[in-house]
Amino acid sequence: MDPVNLAEYEDVARGKLAREAYDYYAGGANDGITLRANVEAYGKLPLYHRVLRDVAARDTSVEVLGERISFPVMVAPTAFHRLACAHGECATARAAARAGTIMVMSTLSNTVIEEVAAVADGPKWFQLYIYKDRGATLDLVRRAEESGCRALVLTVDTALWGRREADVRNNFTLPDGLTVANLAAHAKQNFPAGLAGSGLAAYAAAMLDPSLTWKDLEWLHGQTKLPVVLKGVVHPDDARAAVEHGAAAVIVSNHGGRQLDSSPATIDALPVVAEAVGGKVPVLVDGGVRRGTDVIKALALGARAVLIGRPILWGLAADGEEGAYRVLELLKSEFDLAMALCGARTVGEINRPLVM
Ligand code: GLV
Repeated sequence: MDPVNLAEYEDVARGKLAREAYDYYAGGANDGITLRANVEAYGKLPLYHRVLRDVAARDTSVEVLGERISFPVMVAPTAFHRLACAHGECATARAAARAGTIMVMSTLSNTVIEEVAAVADGPKWFQLYIYKDRGATLDLVRRAEESGCRALVLTVDTALWGRREADVRNNFTLPDGLTVANLAAHAKQNFPAGLAGSGLAAYAAAMLDPSLTWKDLEWLHGQTKLPVVLKGVVHPDDARAAVEHGAAAVIVSNHGGRQLDSSPATIDALPVVAEAVGGKVPVLVDGGVRRGTDVIKALALGARAVLIGRPILWGLAADGEEGAYRVLELLKSEFDLAMALCGARTVGEINRPLVM
């Protein structure tokens, strides 16, 4: 029987994936405090639904940076989709396009930007890590631009790699034949060989730049005309600084609980970030969204849209493109139902009083 909710997709995926792959996708940093909090915090928020508002006709669509998407859920950047299914990121791109939403492609992809961009004509953004090698970084930016990506998503919560203990225990590495494909042009596609512990952590330590400051965001603006979205913000002062430094949007994120363990649940950080941003740019949020009602809560607390990461991977592992598509469609129908039961006909009618 097909899974009837996102949690059941995870159950199916757990049974199909290699242990190392499941642990890599599912794991959080250290004790998993933030990993669990992201999901649990949604459960603690009641929705004060409204009644008798004629919700017979509804429109779930929303605009994000000039792009109208079919509902306020986008595909978050997550790494290494070919651990989940043979077509990897190409399957994700097709699923996102069919569901009418934006896919944020990851730097840490098993498939090159050009190939993912070409397989489906849905809107794409590109998530960027700034490498110590600025030439390699700029090459990614150019290739994202030339492939038609409509925004860059700069991840900034990763000064150093979080300690995911399952990956340390599993000596996590990419199986033969899979690489960090986007970096092959710069001979940076393989994890360092022969080390114990997480190969990805060793790769990140060798490659990514821990010295980044707000000046690097300015540098990036100087290199591209694409809007730059800042991902990994939970503090209101950082949210204000992001706007001052020209971020086109802010993503409230703790990297799915994979970086600083004890970072707040993102739905708890969202209201202070939204207040600091003051409507100057859209605020997005990821982490812990598993239900249509979670999407309503995020929008009520100031998000323009949410992003989902792990559920897409569970869909891919369960049934490739079709699985990822069904995850999105399931969430869309849950969101539509929740909108109706909250008395909202449009996304614009989802407002703060719903969460009091
Ligand atoms: C990649 O960004 C990861 O969190 O593993």
